[in-house]
Amino acid sequence: MINVAILGAGIGAQHLDALERLSDTFRVSAVVDKDTARIEEIRGVSGFRAVSDIQDVLDDPTIDLIDICLPPHLHVPITLAALAAGKHVVCEKPLATSMREVQQIIDASEKARRHVFPVFQYRWGPSLAQLRHLQSSGLTGAVQTAALETHWSRGADYYAVPWRGTWAGERGGAVLGHAIHNHDLLTHIAGEVASLSAMTTTRVNPIETEDCATICFQMASGALCTSNITLGAAKDETRLRIVFEHLTATSGTEPYAPGQPPWSFVARNPEDQAKIDAALASCAPEPVGFEGFFTDLGKALQTEPNAAVSLAEGAASVGLVTAIYHAARTGQRVDLPIKPDHPLYEGWQP
Ligand SMILES: NC(=O)c1ccc[n+]([C@@H]2O[C@H](COP(=O)([O-])OP(=O)(O)OC[C@H]3O[C@@H](n4cnc5c(N)ncnc54)[C@H](O)[C@@H]3O)[C@@H](O)[C@H]2O)c1
Repeated sequence: MINVAILGAGIGAQHLDALERLSDTFRVSAVVDKDTARIEEIRGVSGFRAVSDIQDVLDDPTIDLIDICLPPHLHVPITLAALAAGKHVVCEKPLATSMREVQQIIDASEKARRHVFPVFQYRWGPSLAQLRHLQSSGLTGAVQTAALETHWSRGADYYAVPWRGTWAGERGGAVLGHAIHNHDLLTHIAGEVASLSAMTTTRVNPIETEDCATICFQMASGALCTSNITLGAAKDETRLRIVFEHLTATSGTEPYAPGQPPWSFVARNPEDQAKIDAALASCAPEPVGFEGFFTDLGKALQTEPNAAVSLAEGAASVGLVTAIYHAARTGQRVDLPIKPDHPLYEGWQP
């Protein structure tokens, strides 16, 4: 049994829900929030301790895993403190806000011999399992192009939470906070990004950070892909279209769990459709979102070290954000990975 302390009772409520459904593997021992009334709001039947001080769970030798669902500026200091206390760590996005910080986390994780799992729960769901199955069965061929849409709606109520929309608290806008999931999916499906160019702007709300962006990616494979982002859409929709050599995969518009049906998988050569449909029918379903994420995290801690999202993949996501902000500010095309001599290696805060 893996004993967990969840830090933060906002999105932490959804982590709690998933962990409680996986009660053969995890036990939520404590939920920490300085606003303890918020903890009671998310308590279901669970018998966890409600705690107001993070140090309390870091000092508790019975806790194995610290699950960080705090505002972004706390992610790095609490990750480092949890590793120093000998805990494994789950960290909500963004893992960090500079490549320097990412390196600190990698060093601390190696020193403590404890894992850090960045949260990218959008990877889990039955349709993305089908896509992976088609890829590994050789039925897709190479990615030719992909078009990603993160078209969500955020207004004054969303920005009423003081840390949001600010460089000091949120550390970035729609690129960092919202499209980071789609960009992780892009690399999950199409491999590493070799270079990118980008434009960002603030057009929807009176905030410091960006709320619209357009990005062009050249993948290491040579494929060219795009990401289009706004927080001023009529409603929240996420859509992915991936054109492979042998088929075109198109998601539905479910905003927060794009791995859910309906997806379409259409063969370029109609004669191949039957094979594709047979492969789709033979694919085992998998749990969606946080439940899938924590299922594989449990395997990673117990039997299959490579089952979960890795620290290297979290590092790559911070590298992408660094490159996007640099490309948008300079107009230059930026190569990946970000190296220590890059001008934004220490961070992208203006
Ligand atoms: N994976 C996803 O899809 C997803 C979705 C939403 C948010 N997030 C991420 O989760 C993180 C939290 O977002 P949120 O929307 O839940 O924020 P939130 O502000 O709603 O909740 C954060 C909680 O942390 C508590 N807190 C802050 N500082 C604390 C401290 N020092 N000690 C104890 N408690 C403290 C606050 O009281 C608050 O209840 C952010 O990094 C955000 O980007 C991820």
